[in-house]
Amino acid sequence: MYNSRISGLGMYVPENIVTNDDLSKMMNTSSDWIIERTGIEQRRHIKKGDGNSTAKMGVKAAKIAIKRAGIATNDIELILFATLSPDYYFPGSGVIVQEELGIPTCPAMDIRTQCSGFVYAMSTADQFVKTGMYKNVLVIGSENQSGGLDMTTRGRGVSVIFGDGAGAAVVSRETDLSKGIMSSHLHSEGEHAKELSIIDPNTSRWIPEIIADNNPDDISFYPYMNGQFVFKNAVTRFSEVINEGLEKNGWESKDIDLLIPHQANLRIAQFIQRKFRLSDDQVYNNIQKYGNTTAASIPIALTEAWEAGKVKEGGKVVLAAFGSGFTWGSVMINW
Ligand code: UT7
Repeated sequence: MYNSRISGLGMYVPENIVTNDDLSKMMNTSSDWIIERTGIEQRRHIKKGDGNSTAKMGVKAAKIAIKRAGIATNDIELILFATLSPDYYFPGSGVIVQEELGIPTCPAMDIRTQCSGFVYAMSTADQFVKTGMYKNVLVIGSENQSGGLDMTTRGRGVSVIFGDGAGAAVVSRETDLSKGIMSSHLHSEGEHAKELSIIDPNTSRWIPEIIADNNPDDISFYPYMNGQFVFKNAVTRFSEVINEGLEKNGWESKDIDLLIPHQANLRIAQFIQRKFRLSDDQVYNNIQKYGNTTAASIPIALTEAWEAGKVKEGGKVVLAAFGSGFTWGSVMINW
């Protein structure tokens, strides 16, 4: 019998800082509106020519995580890559990471559950390690969203929120069953698939058709979000899935040493904090600096929290996410 634990963490964000004031020069928005509704003060955007891509940022984060795990790159037996913005339409970015890390061959798969991608990937890694199949799994969440956003007033309800960046974790075999990932809880509800989505291109409206249409007003390949509906579902599902994890392990909310919520909106995280009566020390947020980096937000926040000494040996750490799909989930860790 084995358990799995996080043995190394890393993160990378592009150097280019985009402030709310920078955005207000491109569209009709204001820093006051963005901060009041989302808590976001700035985000990072890849700059054309800076050498970054979704996979390349993932590799930078992964190298740090592998080093901190104290293993060799070739000890990685499986790569799980969570993203909604892969380098290519296909293949996924996991195989690019395998190549760039110089691992001769290993299984690599992309996980397409958007904001919940890292939680889904951690749960998947946990299963492979617990069954004894692999000893070290590399889990990456990485996003290059900026290039695909509508940076005009038309897209302001979505584009001010999202940012670029990557985070990575090495999930390794643990023989002490009281330590590591204690449980994970995953859900989806496809009824709401279109409420937060990019619909085109798809196999009913394939790329040649879009090109042939040549319609400058076509916004179907920009992200769409029914913001208030997503917000309402987020607060409900976040609460449910955290409760599910607490109940499964016999923990109470006061036992949580650190909650890392997916950084969707500071208002959502604050709602959850109040609902579970958690102190500021029990919740880690950094959306103020990076915006919503979708699958990358939890590993970036977890890495920063770990670097700041907030993740302690024996501490109870909860990861929770909600997003497009809808998908949601939690991971309960005894560090
Ligand atoms: O990560 C995955 C999960 N995602 C989420 O959880 C996001 C959930 N949703 C949200 O965070 C919020 O719904 C938003 C931050 C996206 C939007 O905030 P809101 O308070 O729900 O605003 P709203 O969409 O209801 O828009 C209110 C007003 C509208 O104007 P009118 O119709 O009242 O005149 C919008 O046109 O604010 C306007 N607006 C903006 N104004 C300035 C929308 N975006 C902007 C903007 N700047 N960027």
